Amino acid sequence: MKSSVKAIILAAGRGTRMKSSLPKVLHEILGKTLIERVINSVLKVDYVAESIVITGHQAQKVDSRLKKIYSDKPVTTILQEPQLGTGDAVFKAYERLKDFKGTVLVLCGDTPLLSEKTLSEFVKTHQESGSCLTAMSSVLENPGNYGRIVRGPDGGVRKIVEAKDANTEEKLIKEINAGVYCLQWNEISPAFFEITADNAQKEYYLTDIIDWSVKKGFKTSIFTIENSYEIFGINSRKHLAEATKILSNITIENLMDQGVSFVSPQNTLISPETEIERDSVVYPGCVFEGMNHFGKNCVLGPGNFIEGNVKAGDNVKIVQSKVSDSSIGSNSTVGPFARLRNHADIAENVRIGNFVEVKNSRVNSSTNLSHLSYIGDAYLGADVNIGAGTITANYDPLTKTKSKTRIENGVKIGSNCVLIAPVTVEENASVGAGSVITRNVPPLALALAREKQRIIEKWVEKKLNKTNL
Ligand code: UD1
Ligand code: MG
Repeated sequence: MKSSVKAIILAAGRGTRMKSSLPKVLHEILGKTLIERVINSVLKVDYVAESIVITGHQAQKVDSRLKKIYSDKPVTTILQEPQLGTGDAVFKAYERLKDFKGTVLVLCGDTPLLSEKTLSEFVKTHQESGSCLTAMSSVLENPGNYGRIVRGPDGGVRKIVEAKDANTEEKLIKEINAGVYCLQWNEISPAFFEITADNAQKEYYLTDIIDWSVKKGFKTSIFTIENSYEIFGINSRKHLAEATKILSNITIENLMDQGVSFVSPQNTLISPETEIERDSVVYPGCVFEGMNHFGKNCVLGPGNFIEGNVKAGDNVKIVQSKVSDSSIGSNSTVGPFARLRNHADIAENVRIGNFVEVKNSRVNSSTNLSHLSYIGDAYLGADVNIGAGTITANYDPLTKTKSKTRIENGVKIGSNCVLIAPVTVEENASVGAGSVITRNVPPLALALAREKQRIIEKWVEKKLNKTNL
């Protein structure tokens, strides 16, 4: 029987190496911030009763973002002010955890590639081993600035030394500290009263608890992981780009294994939350961010930006378009150069052509919007044809209000019409090209709202004769 676990996620640091006005943990990888990627993995680990996020540098920004996303989840924050190092950051949770007797999982908010599977195995191994403290490690060919795991002659861990404090011999060690730890809180928490800032960075290092635990005679272990990319810590813009590529490549490989083609994987970026079903093809230049689902036999790209939450059925084709938070039914086509946004709800067999924007609207099956249109806050029935250049004028800039347009089944709208909302065009009605519609149109009627054509005979001839005088 496993005991309960509480997580502490460190997110208070300045992130100086990012050279950014945004806190490091709020930088995004494929549509999700670093801190969300860490928290989401932790939330999936069994027995984690609470995640305590330590915020400090621009805490308000981080706190409000977390409140918005995790209002119904056991995620809380504690302020670390000033930021005196990773050891000091964990110490800030001391009061909150005073009566807690279980395992505390500590991780950094800047390691977004850690999977839930690795974390679960880590916690399980720690609890089964009876260790008081376990640190996660990995072996890297180029250990860079990571802390080094120093082992004794018996192979057991002795301490962790930061790259900046390491001697020449220690710098050669390739086994590095992932920055993820399991602590038996009761035994290990007294360490935070004893660690000092006597080091190169004049900070309270969390890593010093290893040496402390070994010296106290507590069972202290290392859990080494094979997938070293998982422990990738983001400290700079270069790291951010590298981690984005790693996460995207893993997703592409998984999708290819499931029967999806990528014409040029190196020219595609795709979030791990995106699902695509078999026999779909992704052409180069597509970026998928957020949580999306595409059915079978879709043809996606070249050149799409898909973001937010996009759901598409089977045989959907989207080319050179931007689609955000929208749904597209089977056999529908979008683009080139179309934009669907803010809950565009497109049914089956719909054609959304070039230079068409659809916002917050329902479009029913077999309806065509083939060229140069804006459809906003509208309901379009089935078998509707919208002529080129048609606009739903949904916004009144004087009252700053938006109104709805209804276009019922079978309606045909001629080219270059403006429908001034609120307005309804009833079933099977027609609207003549170039009309500005301000009143409802009854079923099966024709609405014409344009000046009648006049012919002025010989007008040009007379003009020419005058100028030739
Ligand atoms: C840390 C480890 C290092 C390890 C690496 C793994 C220490 C001393 N070093 O180094 O051994 O190899 O992570 O990625 O722990 N933070 C706070 N408060 C602070 C300072 C930092 O909350 O006062 C947070 C940061 O926001 C960040 C995390 O702690 O999310 C790690 O800090 P960072 O400065 O990135 O440490 P590293 O140099 O990467
Ligand atoms: Mg770091």
